[in-house]
Amino acid sequence: MATPPDVFAKIRGHERVALMRAARDQGLLPYFHEVESPAMPVVQMDGAPRIMLGSNNYLGLTGDERVMAGARDALARYGTGLTGSRLLNGTTPLHLELERELAEWMGTEDAIVFSTGQQANVGTLSTLLAGGDTVVVDSGDHASLLDGALLSRAKLRAFRHNRMDKLESTLVKAAADGGGVMVVVDGIFSMEGDIAPLREIVALCQRFGARLMVDEAHAVGVLGERGAGTAELLGVEAQVDLRMGTFSKSLASCGGFVAGEADVIEFLKIQSRAFLFTASGVPAAIGAALAALRVIRSDDGRALMARVLDNARQLNRGLHALGFDVVEPFPVTNAAGMPESIITPIVPVRVGEDWKAAMLWRALWDAGVFTNVAVHPAVPPGGALLRTSVMATHDAAIIDRALDAFATVKREFEAEHGPLPGPSK
Ligand SMILES: Cc1ncc(COP(=O)(O)O)c(C=O)c1O
Repeated sequence: MATPPDVFAKIRGHERVALMRAARDQGLLPYFHEVESPAMPVVQMDGAPRIMLGSNNYLGLTGDERVMAGARDALARYGTGLTGSRLLNGTTPLHLELERELAEWMGTEDAIVFSTGQQANVGTLSTLLAGGDTVVVDSGDHASLLDGALLSRAKLRAFRHNRMDKLESTLVKAAADGGGVMVVVDGIFSMEGDIAPLREIVALCQRFGARLMVDEAHAVGVLGERGAGTAELLGVEAQVDLRMGTFSKSLASCGGFVAGEADVIEFLKIQSRAFLFTASGVPAAIGAALAALRVIRSDDGRALMARVLDNARQLNRGLHALGFDVVEPFPVTNAAGMPESIITPIVPVRVGEDWKAAMLWRALWDAGVFTNVAVHPAVPPGGALLRTSVMATHDAAIIDRALDAFATVKREFEAEHGPLPGPSK
């Protein structure tokens, strides 16, 4: 019998492995650095203090005493883990309370809590879609949405990021596919930090009889009067069929949820493999998420949401003034019919080539500022960026210090390598 090829053979000499090793050898690897302190505005990383501009802890609630108490109380009451599925021995009163309060917050009939946000997306799309259906995604959608779509075996059709003419032509093609159609978009896009034009998307879905799911991972606890996300901000909550959120950002924990009609949520609870065939979220994670949700829904929550958006504006406008290529504020008409211009807590700095992003990251790191680097395939080829993000707990002085570091790094980088991309407007 012939020996089959070794499945491990493909990892040897893999282009990505070689690239990571080369970057590490030159001290340019922006990944896997150790965080040695709580997720505060300034953290200890690899033995030195760094201003944290790479966290999704948007409201800064991971260190909030009320949220930590929520985690501690849950731990004391139910132990470290539930060692089983929600279906069997993994549902505590806390899980049910959290699902009830999430549905109330979102204004939907019901909600389901998954152990991670990734599983919420994979478990929802792979269960509700099937071969014969068509799923229409924005090219900037999060990887977990694509994974769920692929697992479902529905026909996958992508349209160019936030281009409504392309969504329309894709829906024309989807209609001809002959099955059910679902459109799936991020509310705030995780790399670009921009907002999906949900009013236009809702109108197109209604015209073509398509269902709509919005991933509000970065928008819950951030946008809208109640912090219920992009759909709330834009006044289309009732027209969005499914709204997904995660606990790993504003909700200061780990886990995810989907909110929508009761019969759809019930179906997911008995049919979604990513819900059934995994252990239930640990008590401390659920207790923290519930406590964070209660803070967000209180007056304190409104103040934190206002602060994180103010901080985002300060960072965005500061980087723009320094000549960096950052996103422009998004003009929106809010649910009350008033014009508003929004800068989300994600402030990407577009730099173009991967090597430039790695070198800038390193220079900022040396200057005491931590940023995230996004290179292909997280972004399109040639679209590398430094993804910066702010928290409500940053203050103006810290953001000014980070801007000073950006100014120095830019001057030195351009003296050696030529100009970086400037503002597009
Ligand atoms: C837009 C979006 N959706 C889903 C997820 C997955 O959520 P989690 O990390 O909580 O599993 C993320 C997290 O990175 C995200 O950015």
